[in-house]
Amino acid sequence: MAAAKRNILVTSALPYANGAIHIGHLVEYIQTDIWVRFQRLMGNRVVYLCGDDAHGTPIMLRARSEGVAPEQFIARMNQEHREDFARFGVQFDCYYSTHSPENEALCYMFYERLKAGGHIVHRDVEQFFDPVENIFLPDRFIRGQCPNCKSPDQYGDSCEVCGKHYSPTDLINPKSAVSGAAPERRSSRHFFLHLEDFRDQLLALIRGGLVDAAVANKLEEWFGKELKDWDISRDAPFFGFPIPSEQNKYFYNWLDAPIGYLAALAKNLGGEAADAEEYWKLDDLEVYHFIGKDIIYFHALFWPAMLMGAGLKPPTKLCVHGHLTINGEKMSKSRGTFINAAQYARHLDTQWLRYYFATRLSASPADIDLSFEDFCNRVNSELVGKLANLISRAAPILTRLLEGRTGIVTADALPVLNEFRNAESQIAMDYDQRNFAAVTRRICALADKANKFVEEQAPWSLVKTDEEAARGVLTAALECGRILMIYLKPIIPEMAARVEKCLNIRPQSWRDIQNSMESHVINPFEHLTGRVEERKIQAMLEENKTETTTAAAPGIPATPAVPEEPLAPECSIEQFSAVDLRVGRVIHAEAIEATDKLMKVEIDAGPLGKRTVLAGIKKACTPEELTGRLVIFCANLAPRKMKFGTSEGMILASGPGGKDVFLLSVDQRATPGQRVH
Ligand code: MSP
Ligand code: ZN
Repeated sequence: MAAAKRNILVTSALPYANGAIHIGHLVEYIQTDIWVRFQRLMGNRVVYLCGDDAHGTPIMLRARSEGVAPEQFIARMNQEHREDFARFGVQFDCYYSTHSPENEALCYMFYERLKAGGHIVHRDVEQFFDPVENIFLPDRFIRGQCPNCKSPDQYGDSCEVCGKHYSPTDLINPKSAVSGAAPERRSSRHFFLHLEDFRDQLLALIRGGLVDAAVANKLEEWFGKELKDWDISRDAPFFGFPIPSEQNKYFYNWLDAPIGYLAALAKNLGGEAADAEEYWKLDDLEVYHFIGKDIIYFHALFWPAMLMGAGLKPPTKLCVHGHLTINGEKMSKSRGTFINAAQYARHLDTQWLRYYFATRLSASPADIDLSFEDFCNRVNSELVGKLANLISRAAPILTRLLEGRTGIVTADALPVLNEFRNAESQIAMDYDQRNFAAVTRRICALADKANKFVEEQAPWSLVKTDEEAARGVLTAALECGRILMIYLKPIIPEMAARVEKCLNIRPQSWRDIQNSMESHVINPFEHLTGRVEERKIQAMLEENKTETTTAAAPGIPATPAVPEEPLAPECSIEQFSAVDLRVGRVIHAEAIEATDKLMKVEIDAGPLGKRTVLAGIKKACTPEELTGRLVIFCANLAPRKMKFGTSEGMILASGPGGKDVFLLSVDQRATPGQRVH
């Protein structure tokens, strides 16, 4: 009798919408995708969900600095993230966003139930406030001197030099990373989730297998003392969901982020929050969250507490992985190792990275290293030299010399072939336990045996004397290659599909391991994958060193890579001074109907009076977004008569044009009319 089919819901953590996907992220999404594909191959029912974590101060500030509404900004990031995942074959059933109506409805549902259960408390909190930007500053947006080792320019929550954790109010000479101003202390009322209410339930969960033993031991330490209440509110201005019946209060983005898993489920089911709840409550449903070790706290404490407080079951398992290092060190911009997904894909085959990560991944939360030397070796000697080799040697001979028709597997090959088939349950267990390194080790050991057999039998010589014997050997080689590709399918699905095409067989499932492909006509061989060349890696790293940063560091918004523009001829200081740049405030803006580019902008330049400028920014922002902003403009440019009026200046912006025009921002302390030097 076949084993009962499992019903599994799988998630990867929702990436923040303020930066590009990089290869560090990909460890997680590739790991999850491999596991999901394996479960499906086994015939289990899987829903794989993810989406953008779209709320919070960094995203709000990043959008503001680009001069666009946060909604517009996150829509663009969502599109980019989807494209990046698709490049690496990471296939979600639904890739959604926390900024969605489903998530809002679910968030209110959680809040109302937690409140009704008496789990929400209030308290005044004193925090740093940026008097220039008029926002409360998250810890990471405050920089100053470390109170412990006195290193300058450290974050508000911990020191990168001595590693000490502290409160931002302990920093010496703190500054806002947003405006540079000295922050003030201000008090406001915050909402908290009373975590102690869930102590016993949480401990039972952790001891009951929510995480593997290595992580559980660490978690137990947290229960040694009282569990701190969790601050779930933030003050306006904030990009997120407002707290019902409150003024200027929003839910902290980490509250609605994991609820985003349920929102994606709702979306996948057709859009109703209630459907997601019903599905989640199915008795046989197993819920697996794949996460990095940096976000264990949120997933092992806050999220299960929220779920249980709202009458929903906690997750079945948290699958925790470590962080990616490159050549033994943290990813670094100066070494060129801060590699974005899109950038990698421009230079190297994305299946190689999937294979390489698989060779490094296990259920352990230890960090994993990408060494480029090891990467080249593994791809060239294992993926190309051992795995692809079986098919790429046998198929062309069969096609060229034996009408492409397989026969009966030669009897000598049966021991090897049996070993291939018998490895099935061990490999399945390794996959299920996320021990992908063991999977690839076993598969390579099998491939070694098959390659040795083919080498000894030398069908390329044998064919000259005994065609049928050669056919039997080639049939065995292709059969071994076929089974290997089934084993590898979750890891390198694209290459496996090419093998299926070449062998002229339907998409294989796990059951097909025990089937055979005797007396069957194959298709002409097509290239499966190439070798990595060292110079391509070098080219990728070099390009990365010269590109502008793409990772989103808090407070310093990341910028997408820009094509190089040739430098204009040198100018003298006199020539530069001849351009009179001034600060102005936009007092009115209207889109010019008859064009698709132009906006008519009225600028108040203080003592210089008002100016009308026709600017090509219609696609980049709305008149509402523009009105009230300070801009920098060239005030002594000769007026220019245009079809729709006279333009009396030029506003400074960057970007290639179209919707990508970013107005240069001005410190809010500047005054209209001031000269820019
Ligand atoms: N938005 C939160 C998750 C919310 S889940 C309800 C977040 N986003 S993130 O973009 O910073 O990270 C997304 C996932 O990628 C996390 O699980 C994180 O651990 C993982 N990684 C980010 N950088 C990584 C490496 N350098 N290496 C391995 N995984 C990394 O956290
Ligand atoms: Zn320090």
